[in-house]
Amino acid sequence: MLMKSILITGGAGFIGSHVVKLFVQKYPDYRVVNLDCLTYAGNLENLREIEGSENYSFEKVDLLDAEALAAVFEKYAISDVIHLAAESHVDRSISDPLAFVQTNVIGTVNLLNVSKTYWKVLEEHLFYHVSTDEVYGSLGEDGFFTEQTPYDPQSPYSASKASSDHFVRAYANTYGMQTVISNCSNNYGPNQFPEKLIPLCIHNIKNNKQLPIYGKGENIRDWLFVVDHAKAIDTVFHTGKSGETYNIGGFNEWKNIDIVRLLCDQMDEKLGQEKGTSQRLITFVKDRAGHDMRYAIDASKIQKELGWEPSLQFEEGISKTIDWYLSNEEWLENVTSGNYQKYYSDHY
Ligand code: NAD
Ligand code: DAU
Repeated sequence: MLMKSILITGGAGFIGSHVVKLFVQKYPDYRVVNLDCLTYAGNLENLREIEGSENYSFEKVDLLDAEALAAVFEKYAISDVIHLAAESHVDRSISDPLAFVQTNVIGTVNLLNVSKTYWKVLEEHLFYHVSTDEVYGSLGEDGFFTEQTPYDPQSPYSASKASSDHFVRAYANTYGMQTVISNCSNNYGPNQFPEKLIPLCIHNIKNNKQLPIYGKGENIRDWLFVVDHAKAIDTVFHTGKSGETYNIGGFNEWKNIDIVRLLCDQMDEKLGQEKGTSQRLITFVKDRAGHDMRYAIDASKIQKELGWEPSLQFEEGISKTIDWYLSNEEWLENVTSGNYQKYYSDHY
């Protein structure tokens, strides 16, 4: 008899696929149901390692389809939810904000409604919502985002994620749902769609294409290896307190330009090129509209209360990430054709 039947949404995406793999392999007595509608960012190739596992199922369902969601709850007797499905790219949210309202806000409310209706005794079930540090807005030179930092989202993406966080808290307060939220900093690692800074640069260096740096490249992000985020989600799911929020990050701030230089240097070495070859591809381009200056997470609550720690040092994580992209050319080729190409030809 399986102990839990966990619905993981967005499991074909970047972070979701690492969470699904971790749960399927680590918890053979849980059923893991991956619900994903497979947008341009959803890719079942990310899950090859666990395809065919007895405790794993996939359902191609859109969060906007409440009836189909309810049928999945019935079919698998879903006991808990880990909700990652979202539109996740800030630049896309600037050109199409409504798509972000639909999936991130309405999709989340649909999922909350279906959970609330299906779960007869709410105290016995957990709704875990995975969110972002971007809900807190942008920092100046000093300070960190803590769990007490007031929400101040600045992009259509972060406004939609902030709204979804508010709905989750409202369902806890109004209906007594058991909920937990985590807000994480920038992730990097295998399987990230090459529209995001790090895989975009790896792909472009490999193909001798320009590396577009927005503005002066001075904006700062706080980077965490995706497998460490997946482990943090495991920790929060099992030991986090209902009603609480946990910030997740690696105390690892980098200016964009410094990351791109690091990528260039490591790529030159791995490709056997003269040092400095890839840096010639760096091109400063028009800044992102409303570009947040700095994110930095104070992760001391999850470290002290739940004992989670990041495992990888950044240069090592970047090296592993580059190696993964260099040895998974077919994956990269598949995702850089079709929709991806059209998006970039429409925008640049
Ligand atoms: P991603 O874009 O790689 O994957 C999103 C997944 O959601 C895809 O598989 C997509 O097909 C699916 N999806 C999108 N709309 C859907 C819908 N309407 N119905 C069903 N499935 C749908 O995203 P990611 O980077 O893996 O992010 C996952 C979650 O983590 C998001 O909620 C994001 O806000 C959050 N997050 C991301 C980061 C980061 O650095 N990437 C950091 C902190 C938090
Ligand atoms: O902080 C967490 C967030 O991190 C997540 O919630 C988002 O889902 C995720 O996409 C990410 O958002 P960012 O906007 O920070 O990530 P992105 O990789 O798009 O950009 C990182 C930084 O690099 C940002 O300052 C913009 C800059 N950038 C990005 C791209 C794609 C460039 O300079 N050039 C580029 O081509």
